[in-house]
Amino acid sequence: MKFISVVGARPNFMKVAPLHRAFAGMDDIRHMIVHTGQHYDQNMSKVFFDDLELPKPDVYLGVGSGSHAEQTAKVMVEFEKVLRNEKPDLVIVVGDVNSTVACSLTASKLLIPVAHVEAGLRSFDRTMPEEINRIVTDVLSDYLFVTEESGVVNLKHEGISDDKVFLVGDVMIDSLMMYREKAKRSAMSDQLSAISGQRIEPQGYTLVTLHRPSNVDEKENLETILRIFQGSEKHGPIVFPIHPRTRKRIEEFGLSSQFAQVRGLVLTDPLGYLDFLNLMMDARIILTDSGGIQEETTFLNVPCVTLRENTERPVTLEVGTNVLTGLDTDKIVSLVADCYAGKWKKSMMPRLWDGKAAERIANILYGAMRLKTTSVH
Ligand code: UD1
Repeated sequence: MKFISVVGARPNFMKVAPLHRAFAGMDDIRHMIVHTGQHYDQNMSKVFFDDLELPKPDVYLGVGSGSHAEQTAKVMVEFEKVLRNEKPDLVIVVGDVNSTVACSLTASKLLIPVAHVEAGLRSFDRTMPEEINRIVTDVLSDYLFVTEESGVVNLKHEGISDDKVFLVGDVMIDSLMMYREKAKRSAMSDQLSAISGQRIEPQGYTLVTLHRPSNVDEKENLETILRIFQGSEKHGPIVFPIHPRTRKRIEEFGLSSQFAQVRGLVLTDPLGYLDFLNLMMDARIILTDSGGIQEETTFLNVPCVTLRENTERPVTLEVGTNVLTGLDTDKIVSLVADCYAGKWKKSMMPRLWDGKAAERIANILYGAMRLKTTSVH
């Protein structure tokens, strides 16, 4: 049997790595990786293949950046050629990026079964492009693998039949558990201390990631973020690996010198998986608008403030360390102060976040596809 997994953007790589490992142990499965090229910079893509010990992709589509329609359409045109050549038995897509929806649409039109890993998550906010990607991908998928109970409930409400839905845990946590020890050996905090002249020490710094269009595409919002940094730097350095979209916007809006004036702010290029995991594990608190980091901080029991109005990952609020704040400056600054004063809720582990999600998925798919191919041949 031939399975194709699709990766496109940074948060996809750590989700496919454990699946690849699980399929590698199954003799009669050939698992291919197709990289759409949605993310293409060395530090947004290649470094993750190295860190996560992923083989070079079997096919690279090289679609690059563009508007949503352009990017989605380019992936579809190129991926269709791959599917016609390779004739896989199954396409596996992960997460909620444009490559995810593009490939699920292409495969389902060619009547190739689709498995969606990280299905069912909903922010109920269609201004977020990822929400549209999630809804479309789920409705087209034949196997829906869910990370938390809310996903099962959401899919039920949308009329997706129970027999397609599997609560299996979180493949991103599989990667985190696999690489946690190795990440401890990263020297990133020493390097950043040397470059910035600030002491980046365990429990002594704030870590930030921001890249959502809703936060970084408006000048006013970037100015709010600047005020949050100004109000928080007294507690400890603020380490901010900066996404290319965010860097571009800061430059376009002429805000570079104002960011440079925040003395406690340590700006770096985007980091690889191990270096970033190292910084997450030792951070006092993380400010983010990422989806995945809300889950990783819950797993690691590290305080997390999510600068969004909603989350598609409610378990991180209910049992985890996550707090939603939108861009409420006063609230965020006071939460940072609380955290440095030692006040934060403790995390409980969501069900099945145990490092075995990929194994469960591989076993389910193996069984289901075997049944299908033997009944056809
Ligand atoms: C994408 C995903 C988002 C995910 C994020 C993680 C969609 C709709 N969005 O957002 O869900 O959280 O990735 O990073 O799929 N760029 C580079 N180098 C790169 C890639 C991008 O410079 O390797 C720049 C380009 O100017 C590009 C911009 O970043 O136009 C945005 O990239 P894009 O892939 O469109 O969206 P992200 O904001 O990265």
